[in-house]
Amino acid sequence: MSQPTTVLITGGAGFIGSHACVELLDHGYEVIVVDDYSNSTPQVFARVERIAGRFVGAVYELDILDRQALSAVFDRHTVDAVIHFAARKSVSESTFRPIEYYDTNVGGMTALLRTMHEHGVHQLVHSSSCSVYGEAGRGPLDEAVPARPTNPYAASKWTCEQILADVCRRRPEYTVLCLRYFNPVGAHPSGLLGEDPHGTPDNLMPYLAQVAIGRRERLRVYGDDYPTPDGTAIRDYLHVMDTVEAHRLALDHFGDAPGMHVYNLGRGRGSSVLDVIGVFSRTCGRSIPYEIAPRRPGDVAELVADSSAVRRAWGWRPVRDLVDMCRDAWRFQRLNPQGYADSARRPDGRG
Ligand code: NAD
Ligand code: WQD
Repeated sequence: MSQPTTVLITGGAGFIGSHACVELLDHGYEVIVVDDYSNSTPQVFARVERIAGRFVGAVYELDILDRQALSAVFDRHTVDAVIHFAARKSVSESTFRPIEYYDTNVGGMTALLRTMHEHGVHQLVHSSSCSVYGEAGRGPLDEAVPARPTNPYAASKWTCEQILADVCRRRPEYTVLCLRYFNPVGAHPSGLLGEDPHGTPDNLMPYLAQVAIGRRERLRVYGDDYPTPDGTAIRDYLHVMDTVEAHRLALDHFGDAPGMHVYNLGRGRGSSVLDVIGVFSRTCGRSIPYEIAPRRPGDVAELVADSSAVRRAWGWRPVRDLVDMCRDAWRFQRLNPQGYADSARRPDGRG
């Protein structure tokens, strides 16, 4: 199997996808993007190109469920490998919109797989999630810990993994590198790219940043009665730049061994919600108003990664700490108080 040179990125306008575009452009790859902008905006590409000093090869606005449109992209470009980010990602929304979540996350992935198959493309990096572990318990979790998803989002990600494992069992020409991210946060150090979800953020870091800039009054800390040192839940936060570096390394390793390989991506360090508030507050020099609220349904006390497998396999080692994550998330928020909507107001429209 050859090392890919043209990479199709689904969901390339999103938070992790846009940073992955920069990482791949910086390393000489040709990048093709498909996205329906359901949780992003095309304004991001001017910023990606400004950082990289290169153009994205092509960008297509399409829904990955639209196999005809997807197929036309594969007809037009010689795609060597696909990085599949496009998905719906809100745990809470998935509990009241399960059909939409299975449709996009599972149906979208099978639509992509069928299209890849028809075009002889057999190299895929797939975005999975630590949420597949569910209530796995304390201590760093390695990939051997059984999956026990507790909500439709996590179940959709676990279903995707099972489908991909079945495909790899039957079809030796496939290599699928499945990455289970813990909690990617932060932003590109330029302040041009960051996390700008549509509507009210579900996740801690973008919500915190919007409180710090004054867009939201206060953070609700979901639960202070967990069995953790300060009572708030512990997660393994990982800088988005370390996250996308792992994807770039993945592209170098398609040739190692065919089949499905699953790796956790985390730092192996847990931080509580109060830890994150403290570091963010010191970093931005502002106090962050917060109140203790009831636990969020479906949340677990602790999720921390054992990522030694990917370190051994590819030499991946995250180098950015929580201070870097908060500093970069804050820089993006400070320079773009309304997120990417701010670039729409610039006369050149390029943000
Ligand atoms: P995001 O919402 O910022 O990016 C997803 C992108 O996919 C968006 O640009 C969205 O418009 C696009 N998209 C959604 N549905 C689509 C469809 N039907 N057709 C085409 N495009 C579509 O999310 P993200 O944080 O960048 O996450 C990327 C991937 O990583 C997702 O698969 C997510 O489940 C997974 N993941 C994210 C996290 C996290 O904390 N951010 C953690 C674990 C796993
Ligand atoms: C982190 C901690 C909250 C918001 C989920 C998915 C995971 C990945 C990231 C997609 C928790 C607390 C949060 C707030 C809070 N996504 N919190 N107030 O829930 O660990 O992970 O999103 O794949 O797979 O499971 O991330 O950032 O939402 O929450 O107190 O306003 O912050 O309770 O303890 P989570 P998060």
